[in-house]
Amino acid sequence: MKKASVILDKDYTISEIDQRIYGSFIEHLGRAVYTGIYEPGHRLADEQGFRKDVLEMVRELNVPVVRYPGGNFVSGFNWEDSVGPVESRPARLDLAWGTTETNEFGLHEFVDWAKKANAQVMYAVNLGTRGPDCARNAVEYANHKGGTYWSNLRIKNGAKEPFDIKLWCLGNEMDGPWQMCGKTAYEYGRVANETAKLMKLVDPSIELVACGSSSYRIKTFGEWEYTMLNECYDRVDYVSLHRYFKNKENDAEDYLASTLELDEFIHTVAAICDAVKGKKHSKKTLQLSLDEWNVWYHSNEQDQEIFRDNAWGRKLPLLEDVYNFEDALLVGLTLISMIRNADRVKIGCLAQLVNVIAPIMTREGGGVWAQTIFYPVMAASKYGRGISLLPKVICDRYTSRNFDDVPVIDLAAVQAEDGSVTLFVVNRDLKDAVELSCDIRSFGEMRVVSHAALHHDDMKAVNTEAHPDTVKPVELAVPKSLDSIVLPAASWNVIRLMKPMEG
Ligand code: AHR
Repeated sequence: MKKASVILDKDYTISEIDQRIYGSFIEHLGRAVYTGIYEPGHRLADEQGFRKDVLEMVRELNVPVVRYPGGNFVSGFNWEDSVGPVESRPARLDLAWGTTETNEFGLHEFVDWAKKANAQVMYAVNLGTRGPDCARNAVEYANHKGGTYWSNLRIKNGAKEPFDIKLWCLGNEMDGPWQMCGKTAYEYGRVANETAKLMKLVDPSIELVACGSSSYRIKTFGEWEYTMLNECYDRVDYVSLHRYFKNKENDAEDYLASTLELDEFIHTVAAICDAVKGKKHSKKTLQLSLDEWNVWYHSNEQDQEIFRDNAWGRKLPLLEDVYNFEDALLVGLTLISMIRNADRVKIGCLAQLVNVIAPIMTREGGGVWAQTIFYPVMAASKYGRGISLLPKVICDRYTSRNFDDVPVIDLAAVQAEDGSVTLFVVNRDLKDAVELSCDIRSFGEMRVVSHAALHHDDMKAVNTEAHPDTVKPVELAVPKSLDSIVLPAASWNVIRLMKPMEG
């Protein structure tokens, strides 16, 4: 059997993990909201029309923060349309997705839903068709106690207490030519700076995310970050990164190697932030928000047909990627990368949460089920809280179509408050199991108490409503020693270590 080893030392740490890296995203897009989280009339809908079966699964994922309401949608959205009596809310054309938005579900409904989901709200403002004025009004509406036009309107609309939304996005993907009223880096930097100024004057306790690049491969990458941060560095707290993976070439080895590029993306954005920091002699270090990430490509062709045949429709099954087993490995690898970059990545939003490129799927009037990617996300959110340890991994390496020097084993290690250590490990080797030996002697005596693995012989296996358990983690036999942890070929592994008396 192939062999690999990891050395962990309790004094070699990367950072405390910000739990918000396990966040997610709900956009007014496709069936994320309508027939996703909200379906009045469904037999499992609560008194507000929220599907209780979906809420239960969201709570299982333990999502600390949910970005809302977009996405591309937000760049043409009037937040005021989404508050007040439902019968007076206007229906509008959503130019981002070619659909009709009725605004039946809006800000108050989302805040209530997030509360039931035990999640904080990360709210995006429109810096496309709108700008600083509507953004500062939104903060006043959401967070000001009362006694002003907008805060009184919130109270009149039924929310006496402020929503106290702490995290705000200054627009969405403003570098993208597809974005409504997209901008040059300088234009965006200026408007982000002025918008941030007004928003923080209304509520100085909020944190703001500036739009970084919508992808690592977009032509303006790098220049975009440097130029726009030059304008708004002092007023913002995070810069965003968006990353979607695909396996269009049907080359699993190369696909699984592609998270190496995410590491590169993160390091480069951090370096640009630090360059602007240095140039400005600033004391502030900007942190990163990977606020859209996932696999997205399975639904591309189907979406073209849906767009063609359903102009301005509602509740369309858009971006409904059906995820297979190899996608779950890719998602696991992304989580590992985020944990290993916990010193800079403080927010992460899996895009998205329900139905739209999502771990959770529903059928209108029907059931709910977990896609393959649900499982690594759930495990990381459950056991990936605490201190990210600096792992020294020794393993074989391979070369794929686009990547050199790819480690067969990718690993992150987290020490929890109770002293337990969890290893998240992907074995990228598609054919062979690897025997991992773990040197953790500085922690004193530790033993493996559980080893759950996600593996399927068919890389293309999927979960469906009829067969929801095709791809699911299984508990493996606990290895006898720390030197003989067997990682099945092509697998995601969650290995928990504890001191003997704690086990
Ligand atoms: O998540 C789907 C879309 O991807 C979002 O609306 C946009 O921000 C990104 O391009």
